[in-house]
Amino acid sequence: MDKVGFMGLGAMGLPMASNLAKAGLDLMVFNRSPAKAEPLKKQCVQVAASCHELIDWADIVVMMLSGPEAIEATLGERLASAPQMLAGKLVVNMGTNPPSYSETLAGRLAQAGAAFVEAPVLGTQEPAVQGTLLVMTSGPRQAQKKLEPIFDAVGSQSVYCGQVPKAGMMKLAVNLVLSAALEGLFEGTHFAQKAGLDLDTYFQLILNSPLGNPVFALKAKKLLERDYAPQASLGTVREMLKHIADTAHDIGAFIPGTLGNLNLSTMAINQGLAGEDACAMIKVFDK
Ligand SMILES: NC(=O)c1ccc[n+]([C@@H]2O[C@H](COP(=O)([O-])OP(=O)(O)OC[C@H]3O[C@@H](n4cnc5c(N)ncnc54)[C@H](OP(=O)(O)O)[C@@H]3O)[C@@H](O)[C@H]2O)c1
Repeated sequence: MDKVGFMGLGAMGLPMASNLAKAGLDLMVFNRSPAKAEPLKKQCVQVAASCHELIDWADIVVMMLSGPEAIEATLGERLASAPQMLAGKLVVNMGTNPPSYSETLAGRLAQAGAAFVEAPVLGTQEPAVQGTLLVMTSGPRQAQKKLEPIFDAVGSQSVYCGQVPKAGMMKLAVNLVLSAALEGLFEGTHFAQKAGLDLDTYFQLILNSPLGNPVFALKAKKLLERDYAPQASLGTVREMLKHIADTAHDIGAFIPGTLGNLNLSTMAINQGLAGEDACAMIKVFDK
Protein backbone atom coordinates (compact mmCIF):
# COMPACT_ATOMS: atom_id res chain seq x y z
CA MET A 1 0.00 0.00 0.00
CA ASP A 2 1.30 3.49 -0.87
CA LYS A 3 2.26 5.70 2.07
CA VAL A 4 0.19 8.91 1.82
CA GLY A 5 1.48 12.12 3.42
CA PHE A 6 -1.13 14.89 3.71
CA MET A 7 -0.13 18.52 4.39
CA GLY A 8 -2.56 21.31 5.35
CA LEU A 9 -5.29 20.68 7.91
CA GLY A 10 -7.34 23.83 7.36
CA ALA A 11 -11.09 24.17 6.78
CA MET A 12 -10.88 21.73 3.85
CA GLY A 13 -7.78 19.67 4.63
CA LEU A 14 -8.85 18.42 8.06
CA PRO A 15 -12.08 16.72 6.92
CA MET A 16 -10.35 15.44 3.77
CA ALA A 17 -7.54 13.85 5.82
CA SER A 18 -10.14 12.41 8.19
CA ASN A 19 -11.85 10.73 5.22
CA LEU A 20 -8.50 9.32 4.03
CA ALA A 21 -8.04 7.81 7.50
CA LYS A 22 -11.58 6.37 7.45
CA ALA A 23 -10.81 4.78 4.06
CA GLY A 24 -7.97 2.86 5.72
CA LEU A 25 -5.07 4.47 3.81
CA ASP A 26 -1.57 4.38 5.30
CA LEU A 27 -1.62 8.06 6.32
CA MET A 28 0.66 10.64 7.93
CA VAL A 29 -0.37 14.30 8.29
CA PHE A 30 1.39 17.61 8.89
CA ASN A 31 0.09 21.05 9.74
CA ARG A 32 2.07 24.21 10.50
CA SER A 33 -0.07 24.81 13.61
CA PRO A 34 0.18 21.40 15.30
CA ALA A 35 -3.04 21.80 17.37
CA LYS A 36 -5.16 21.26 14.24
CA ALA A 37 -3.86 17.67 14.00
CA GLU A 38 -5.29 16.72 17.42
CA PRO A 39 -8.65 15.37 16.10
CA LEU A 40 -6.75 13.07 13.72
CA LYS A 41 -4.65 11.62 16.53
CA LYS A 42 -7.94 10.28 17.90
CA GLN A 43 -8.33 8.42 14.56
CA CYS A 44 -4.85 6.93 15.17
CA VAL A 45 -3.31 8.94 12.30
CA GLN A 46 0.46 9.47 12.45
CA VAL A 47 1.38 13.16 12.83
CA ALA A 48 4.71 14.37 11.42
CA ALA A 49 6.77 16.77 13.51
CA SER A 50 7.85 18.62 10.35
CA CYS A 51 6.90 18.84 6.71
CA HIS A 52 10.32 17.37 5.88
CA GLU A 53 9.57 14.26 7.95
CA LEU A 54 6.28 13.83 6.09
CA ILE A 55 7.78 14.35 2.63
CA ASP A 56 10.65 11.94 3.29
CA TRP A 57 8.26 9.23 4.61
CA ALA A 58 5.54 9.39 1.94
CA ASP A 59 5.27 7.76 -1.49
CA ILE A 60 2.47 10.20 -2.34
CA VAL A 61 2.54 13.75 -0.96
CA VAL A 62 -0.87 15.46 -1.00
CA MET A 63 -1.11 19.21 -0.35
CA MET A 64 -4.22 21.15 0.70
CA LEU A 65 -2.47 24.40 1.55
CA SER A 66 -3.60 28.00 1.22
CA GLY A 67 -1.50 28.81 -1.85
CA PRO A 68 1.97 29.10 -3.40
CA GLU A 69 3.47 30.82 -0.35
CA ALA A 70 2.52 27.85 1.84
CA ILE A 71 3.76 25.37 -0.77
CA GLU A 72 7.10 27.19 -0.96
CA ALA A 73 7.38 27.15 2.85
CA THR A 74 6.95 23.34 2.89
CA LEU A 75 7.53 21.37 -0.32
CA GLY A 76 9.57 24.24 -1.80
CA GLU A 77 11.99 24.11 1.12
CA ARG A 78 12.51 20.36 0.69
CA LEU A 79 13.04 20.84 -3.04
CA ALA A 80 15.71 23.41 -2.26
CA SER A 81 17.42 21.60 0.63
CA ALA A 82 17.28 17.93 -0.48
CA PRO A 83 15.75 17.45 -3.94
CA GLN A 84 16.96 13.81 -3.97
CA MET A 85 14.37 13.08 -1.25
CA LEU A 86 11.63 13.78 -3.81
CA ALA A 87 12.89 11.30 -6.42
CA GLY A 88 10.31 8.68 -7.38
CA LYS A 89 7.52 10.34 -5.42
CA LEU A 90 4.14 11.53 -6.62
CA VAL A 91 3.13 15.03 -5.49
CA VAL A 92 -0.53 16.02 -5.66
CA ASN A 93 -1.77 19.55 -5.14
CA MET A 94 -5.46 19.68 -4.23
CA GLY A 95 -5.55 23.39 -3.31
CA THR A 96 -6.35 26.18 -5.73
CA ASN A 97 -3.28 27.78 -7.29
CA PRO A 98 -2.42 30.00 -10.24
CA PRO A 99 -2.05 27.72 -13.28
CA SER A 100 1.26 29.40 -14.13
CA TYR A 101 2.62 28.43 -10.69
CA SER A 102 1.46 24.79 -11.16
CA GLU A 103 3.27 24.59 -14.49
CA THR A 104 6.51 25.84 -12.94
CA LEU A 105 6.14 23.51 -9.94
CA ALA A 106 5.60 20.51 -12.24
CA GLY A 107 8.89 21.38 -14.00
CA ARG A 108 10.83 21.77 -10.73
CA LEU A 109 9.50 18.42 -9.46
CA ALA A 110 10.32 16.69 -12.75
CA GLN A 111 13.93 17.89 -12.36
CA ALA A 112 13.99 16.19 -8.94
CA GLY A 113 12.56 12.99 -10.47
CA ALA A 114 9.07 13.40 -8.99
CA ALA A 115 5.73 13.33 -10.80
CA PHE A 116 3.13 16.05 -10.29
CA VAL A 117 -0.65 15.87 -10.41
CA GLU A 118 -2.86 18.89 -10.06
CA ALA A 119 -6.19 17.97 -8.44
CA PRO A 120 -8.17 21.02 -7.28
CA VAL A 121 -11.64 20.41 -5.86
CA LEU A 122 -15.12 21.84 -6.23
CA GLY A 123 -17.21 22.04 -3.07
CA THR A 124 -16.85 23.70 0.33
CA GLN A 125 -16.36 22.37 3.86
CA GLU A 126 -19.66 20.44 4.01
CA PRO A 127 -18.90 18.26 0.93
CA ALA A 128 -15.34 17.89 2.26
CA VAL A 129 -16.82 16.43 5.47
CA GLN A 130 -19.22 14.22 3.50
CA GLY A 131 -16.47 13.07 1.11
CA THR A 132 -18.46 14.33 -1.87
CA LEU A 133 -16.07 16.84 -3.42
CA LEU A 134 -15.70 16.99 -7.18
CA VAL A 135 -12.05 16.47 -8.11
CA MET A 136 -10.58 17.86 -11.33
CA THR A 137 -7.26 16.31 -12.26
CA SER A 138 -4.42 16.91 -14.67
CA GLY A 139 -0.99 15.40 -15.11
CA PRO A 140 0.36 12.04 -16.25
CA ARG A 141 -2.46 9.56 -17.05
CA GLN A 142 -0.68 6.63 -15.33
CA ALA A 143 -0.62 8.54 -12.02
CA GLN A 144 -4.41 8.93 -12.02
CA LYS A 145 -4.97 5.20 -11.40
CA LYS A 146 -2.58 5.27 -8.42
CA LEU A 147 -4.56 8.16 -6.95
CA GLU A 148 -8.01 6.57 -7.22
CA PRO A 149 -8.14 5.45 -3.53
CA ILE A 150 -7.42 9.07 -2.48
CA PHE A 151 -9.91 10.68 -4.87
CA ASP A 152 -12.58 8.09 -3.98
CA ALA A 153 -12.14 8.83 -0.26
CA VAL A 154 -12.52 12.63 -0.55
CA GLY A 155 -14.85 12.95 -3.52
CA SER A 156 -17.86 11.58 -5.33
CA GLN A 157 -16.31 12.03 -8.78
CA SER A 158 -12.96 12.80 -10.38
CA VAL A 159 -12.74 14.31 -13.85
CA TYR A 160 -9.56 14.20 -15.95
CA CYS A 161 -8.95 17.55 -17.66
CA GLY A 162 -5.65 16.97 -19.53
CA GLN A 163 -2.07 18.00 -18.85
CA VAL A 164 -1.05 20.47 -16.11
CA PRO A 165 -2.39 23.19 -15.71
CA LYS A 166 -5.72 22.27 -17.35
CA ALA A 167 -7.38 21.18 -14.06
CA GLY A 168 -6.33 24.46 -12.44
CA MET A 169 -7.74 26.40 -15.40
CA MET A 170 -10.98 24.41 -15.16
CA LYS A 171 -11.26 25.15 -11.44
CA LEU A 172 -10.78 28.89 -12.03
CA ALA A 173 -13.34 28.93 -14.87
CA VAL A 174 -15.93 27.23 -12.62
CA ASN A 175 -15.09 29.44 -9.63
CA LEU A 176 -15.55 32.53 -11.78
CA VAL A 177 -19.21 31.54 -12.18
CA LEU A 178 -19.55 30.66 -8.49
CA SER A 179 -18.13 34.00 -7.31
CA ALA A 180 -20.42 35.91 -9.70
CA ALA A 181 -23.44 33.96 -8.43
CA LEU A 182 -22.56 34.54 -4.76
CA GLU A 183 -21.90 38.22 -5.34
CA GLY A 184 -25.42 38.39 -6.83
CA LEU A 185 -26.87 36.69 -3.75
CA PHE A 186 -25.11 39.07 -1.34
CA GLU A 187 -26.01 42.17 -3.36
CA GLY A 188 -29.62 40.96 -3.68
CA THR A 189 -29.82 40.35 0.09
CA HIS A 190 -28.58 43.89 0.74
CA PHE A 191 -31.17 45.26 -1.73
CA ALA A 192 -33.96 43.21 -0.11
CA GLN A 193 -32.96 44.44 3.36
CA LYS A 194 -32.92 48.08 2.22
CA ALA A 195 -36.35 47.55 0.64
CA GLY A 196 -37.69 46.29 3.98
CA LEU A 197 -38.51 42.84 2.53
CA ASP A 198 -38.85 39.74 4.68
CA LEU A 199 -35.56 37.86 4.17
CA ASP A 200 -37.08 34.44 4.91
CA THR A 201 -39.56 34.94 2.07
CA TYR A 202 -36.84 36.34 -0.19
CA PHE A 203 -34.60 33.27 0.27
CA GLN A 204 -37.52 30.85 -0.04
CA LEU A 205 -38.45 32.41 -3.38
CA ILE A 206 -34.89 32.12 -4.65
CA LEU A 207 -34.39 28.56 -3.37
CA ASN A 208 -37.71 27.34 -4.81
CA SER A 209 -37.03 28.98 -8.18
CA PRO A 210 -34.71 27.63 -10.91
CA LEU A 211 -31.98 29.72 -9.19
CA GLY A 212 -32.07 27.45 -6.10
CA ASN A 213 -28.94 25.36 -5.45
CA PRO A 214 -27.19 23.81 -2.41
CA VAL A 215 -24.59 26.59 -2.16
CA PHE A 216 -27.27 29.29 -2.06
CA ALA A 217 -29.17 27.21 0.55
CA LEU A 218 -26.05 27.03 2.74
CA LYS A 219 -25.29 30.76 2.40
CA ALA A 220 -28.94 31.83 2.85
CA LYS A 221 -29.00 30.00 6.21
CA LYS A 222 -25.75 31.66 7.28
CA LEU A 223 -26.97 35.11 6.17
CA LEU A 224 -30.24 34.70 8.11
CA GLU A 225 -28.37 33.59 11.23
CA ARG A 226 -25.58 36.15 10.77
CA ASP A 227 -23.20 33.19 11.09
CA TYR A 228 -19.84 34.23 9.67
CA ALA A 229 -17.80 31.18 10.78
CA PRO A 230 -15.69 30.36 7.70
CA GLN A 231 -16.61 27.56 5.30
CA ALA A 232 -14.50 29.44 2.77
CA SER A 233 -12.95 32.58 4.28
CA LEU A 234 -12.95 35.94 2.48
CA GLY A 235 -9.14 35.75 2.54
CA THR A 236 -9.29 32.45 0.60
CA VAL A 237 -11.92 33.86 -1.77
CA ARG A 238 -9.80 36.93 -2.49
CA GLU A 239 -6.74 34.79 -3.20
CA MET A 240 -8.79 32.73 -5.67
CA LEU A 241 -10.17 35.86 -7.39
CA LYS A 242 -6.62 37.19 -7.68
CA HIS A 243 -5.56 33.92 -9.37
CA ILE A 244 -8.44 34.32 -11.85
CA ALA A 245 -7.57 37.97 -12.54
CA ASP A 246 -3.85 37.22 -13.05
CA THR A 247 -4.64 34.25 -15.29
CA ALA A 248 -7.17 36.27 -17.32
CA HIS A 249 -4.42 38.82 -17.89
CA ASP A 250 -2.02 36.07 -19.06
CA ILE A 251 -4.51 34.45 -21.47
CA GLY A 252 -6.18 37.68 -22.68
CA ALA A 253 -9.65 37.03 -21.21
CA PHE A 254 -12.03 39.97 -20.50
CA ILE A 255 -13.58 39.50 -17.02
CA PRO A 256 -15.09 42.83 -15.85
CA GLY A 257 -17.51 41.22 -13.33
CA THR A 258 -14.74 39.25 -11.63
CA LEU A 259 -12.53 42.34 -11.41
CA GLY A 260 -15.42 44.08 -9.63
CA ASN A 261 -15.63 41.11 -7.24
CA LEU A 262 -11.91 41.29 -6.62
CA ASN A 263 -12.26 44.98 -5.66
CA LEU A 264 -15.12 44.11 -3.30
CA SER A 265 -13.13 41.34 -1.64
CA THR A 266 -10.15 43.70 -1.21
CA MET A 267 -12.51 46.16 0.53
CA ALA A 268 -13.64 43.30 2.79
CA ILE A 269 -10.05 42.43 3.69
CA ASN A 270 -9.34 46.12 4.42
CA GLN A 271 -12.33 46.08 6.78
CA GLY A 272 -10.72 43.23 8.73
CA LEU A 273 -13.00 40.45 7.40
CA ALA A 274 -10.29 38.12 5.97
CA GLY A 275 -10.99 35.33 8.46
CA GLU A 276 -14.79 35.44 8.11
CA ASP A 277 -16.95 33.44 5.73
CA ALA A 278 -17.59 34.75 2.20
CA CYS A 279 -21.12 35.72 3.26
CA ALA A 280 -19.59 38.39 5.55
CA MET A 281 -19.38 40.32 2.26
CA ILE A 282 -22.86 41.56 3.21
CA LYS A 283 -21.11 43.75 5.82
CA VAL A 284 -19.27 45.58 3.02
CA PHE A 285 -22.60 46.32 1.28
CA ASP A 286 -24.28 47.32 4.55
CA LYS A 287 -21.47 49.76 5.34
N1 LIG B 1 -12.63 26.56 1.80
C1 LIG B 1 -13.23 26.19 0.69
O1 LIG B 1 -14.47 26.19 0.57
C2 LIG B 1 -12.42 25.71 -0.48
C3 LIG B 1 -13.05 25.01 -1.50
C4 LIG B 1 -12.30 24.52 -2.58
C5 LIG B 1 -10.94 24.76 -2.63
N2 LIG B 1 -10.34 25.46 -1.63
C6 LIG B 1 -8.89 25.67 -1.73
O2 LIG B 1 -8.27 24.75 -0.85
C7 LIG B 1 -7.09 25.31 -0.28
C8 LIG B 1 -7.21 25.29 1.24
O3 LIG B 1 -8.35 26.05 1.60
P1 LIG B 1 -8.87 26.09 3.13
O4 LIG B 1 -10.19 26.77 3.09
O5 LIG B 1 -8.73 24.77 3.77
O6 LIG B 1 -7.80 27.11 3.75
P2 LIG B 1 -7.41 27.34 5.29
O7 LIG B 1 -8.48 26.87 6.19
O8 LIG B 1 -6.98 28.75 5.37
O9 LIG B 1 -6.13 26.39 5.49
C9 LIG B 1 -4.91 26.72 4.88
C10 LIG B 1 -3.87 25.70 5.24
O10 LIG B 1 -2.61 26.14 4.72
C11 LIG B 1 -1.64 26.18 5.80
N3 LIG B 1 -0.66 27.24 5.57
C12 LIG B 1 -0.90 28.53 5.25
N4 LIG B 1 0.27 29.20 5.15
C13 LIG B 1 1.26 28.31 5.42
C14 LIG B 1 2.67 28.39 5.47
N5 LIG B 1 3.32 29.54 5.20
N6 LIG B 1 3.36 27.27 5.78
C15 LIG B 1 2.71 26.10 6.02
N7 LIG B 1 1.38 25.96 6.00
C16 LIG B 1 0.67 27.05 5.70
C17 LIG B 1 -2.48 26.43 7.03
O11 LIG B 1 -1.73 26.09 8.18
P3 LIG B 1 -2.14 26.75 9.61
O12 LIG B 1 -3.29 25.91 10.12
O13 LIG B 1 -0.91 26.63 10.41
O14 LIG B 1 -2.55 28.17 9.34
C18 LIG B 1 -3.66 25.50 6.76
O15 LIG B 1 -3.34 24.19 7.01
C19 LIG B 1 -6.98 26.73 -0.87
O16 LIG B 1 -6.14 26.67 -1.99
C20 LIG B 1 -8.40 27.04 -1.30
O17 LIG B 1 -8.46 27.97 -2.36
C21 LIG B 1 -11.04 25.93 -0.55
